[in-house]
Amino acid sequence: MEVIIKQTYPEMSQVAAQLVVDVLNAKPNAVLGMATGSTPLGLYQELVRLHKNEGLDFSQVTTFNLDEYVGLPVDHPQSYHHFMRENFFKHVNIPPQNVYIPSGTTSNYHAFCQWFEKRIEDCGGIDLQILGIGSDGHIAFNEPTSSLSSRTRLKTLAKPTIDDNARFFERREDVPVYAITMGVGTILDARKLILLASGNAKATAVAQTVEGPITSMVTASAIQLHRDAKVIIDDEAATELRMRDYYEFIYQAQPGAPTT
Ligand code: F6R
Repeated sequence: MEVIIKQTYPEMSQVAAQLVVDVLNAKPNAVLGMATGSTPLGLYQELVRLHKNEGLDFSQVTTFNLDEYVGLPVDHPQSYHHFMRENFFKHVNIPPQNVYIPSGTTSNYHAFCQWFEKRIEDCGGIDLQILGIGSDGHIAFNEPTSSLSSRTRLKTLAKPTIDDNARFFERREDVPVYAITMGVGTILDARKLILLASGNAKATAVAQTVEGPITSMVTASAIQLHRDAKVIIDDEAATELRMRDYYEFIYQAQPGAPTT
């Protein structure tokens, strides 16, 4: 795992955007795994800027989103469908038929989850999965005690997640209790992972993810098992890392490292 610490949120968003650009340069028809929430907003803004100003092309890209709230129709202002449309999809040139977001309103969740997994497989797997992290250490909506080999399925949200996400709803009671989410196993199958975190509220979860034991109590810690995972964070999210100096040393020394 590589840990990249940048002083500010805009800087970490730019590093993340460059990694997406690198993937698209190498494979214009890449399959991208998308996340919602506050954290990837800077990354999406930078990708939109690169599309508008520098011709970054998404015309062959396919995307799969991590999760969606159960019960929210696609046009609900807090649905992840709405979030993705407003913050990313309507600003870039990804063909709408290449966009896959879990359904929050399907009549058969079990069948939908199986279909979603099969679509990922049929599209050749996810090349780069973008991840945020919950204050309880979740990735996607894989709450503490989720199986580390889980696949796309229904999950009941944990109380800290409902509390965290209540800021987007009028009342806490409006936050859905269930979500449909890629599993930890689904996420680990992606060829590359980037996990983004910003701010003090994420510092403990980041330290547990990077330096703690691999445990279903912090599902993000499962990314320690991945061969190509990068954790990109800002200064505040890095405050509880014990090996911070080492990560910074690695990052600075990288340009001089042997490449063959
Ligand atoms: C959203 C998702 C969640 C968020 C996490 C952090 O698609 O998968 O795991 O990444 O809850 O959310 P923010 O970025 O709002 O702090």
